[in-house]
Amino acid sequence: MTATRGPNPRPGILDIAPYVPGTAALPGAGTVIKLSSNETPLGPSPRAIEAYLAQSPHLSRYPDGSARPLREALAKLYGLDAARIVAGAGSDELLNLLAAAYLGPGDEAIYTEHGFLVYRIAIQAHGATPVVAPERDLTADVDAILARVSDATRLVFIANPNNPTGTYLPFDEVKRLHAGLPEHVILVLDAAYAEYVRANDYEAGIELVATTQNTVMTRTFSKIYGLAALRLGWAYCPSAVADVLNRIRGPFNVTGPSIAAGIAALADQPHMEQAVEHNTIWLRTMAEALQGIGLRVTPSAANFLLVHFPETKSARDADTFLHTRRIILRRVEEYGFPDALRMTIGTEDENNAVLRALTDFMSGAQ
Ligand SMILES: Cc1ncc(COP(=O)(O)O)c(C=O)c1O
Repeated sequence: MTATRGPNPRPGILDIAPYVPGTAALPGAGTVIKLSSNETPLGPSPRAIEAYLAQSPHLSRYPDGSARPLREALAKLYGLDAARIVAGAGSDELLNLLAAAYLGPGDEAIYTEHGFLVYRIAIQAHGATPVVAPERDLTADVDAILARVSDATRLVFIANPNNPTGTYLPFDEVKRLHAGLPEHVILVLDAAYAEYVRANDYEAGIELVATTQNTVMTRTFSKIYGLAALRLGWAYCPSAVADVLNRIRGPFNVTGPSIAAGIAALADQPHMEQAVEHNTIWLRTMAEALQGIGLRVTPSAANFLLVHFPETKSARDADTFLHTRRIILRRVEEYGFPDALRMTIGTEDENNAVLRALTDFMSGAQ
């Protein structure tokens, strides 16, 4: 894009395609079924809401600058070193801080063909070059990633499981990926959906972070813990990386109510487990039901399904039809899927409403 007169951003900034979040509302009155942003249908733990509200008398005070009580709660729950945890305003902030710290013009960072789009934005925002590795069966391909590593590579971003495909890399493959990377490259394992995964061959990243100097795992309270509005995430890092991130993050980058709600959410593991159980049941039920009406569904380990439409029935038309039923799924053209929609697993009623609507759409009923 050409520069205009007046203030101009750094080269490359205007080439960034802004992130388009899932649609959140529809014109007209009435409730909508919003299954477009992978939020939990069960909401947060009531204890988290209570802890959040209990912070209201303290809004004039700055929060703990390093979110120490939250880091200590996470360390206790997962058996980690609190000093190596960095909290952020959502894991998005941590992904951007990693890019800010390790990328600049001339550097390269790798992500995969259908990978989470925030990576591309973070890479471009810091003047580095995005390198896209093709996937195999809509899954990250370790050999394809390793083949694209160069002397200029600084970061490799993998969402595991990935959004919007829901596919995951087994731990053996993650270890093989790490083993093939030079020491100066950081492997960023974005485990935003880790809690949902029910597979024996999956590991979110804690083990690799514990045993290597160049792996970072990012996590979030936005998904299973139901605190997306509070913007709360965390990264588990080698000490040297935690030190780097702590130098560049805002001195109070996480709010007091978020810290309090996060700690209370962690303390209510039964609520979290209930959300996992709900998801496990409905992920399978919806995948089978959608296939039963002629749709193809990518096997998912997360809390959403990538639903592929046949040539005769476009995803765009399905989306428009669903809107007439006041249902919002996620369009995924910009992820390379013009013929698919991504559906977040909802409540039982929401899931059944989607199924009824898509059954009508596929049979041509209005
Ligand atoms: C793979 C992945 N990583 C990170 C995020 C961002 O989460 P947060 O709300 O913690 O910024 C998302 C949210 O959609 C995601 O899908």
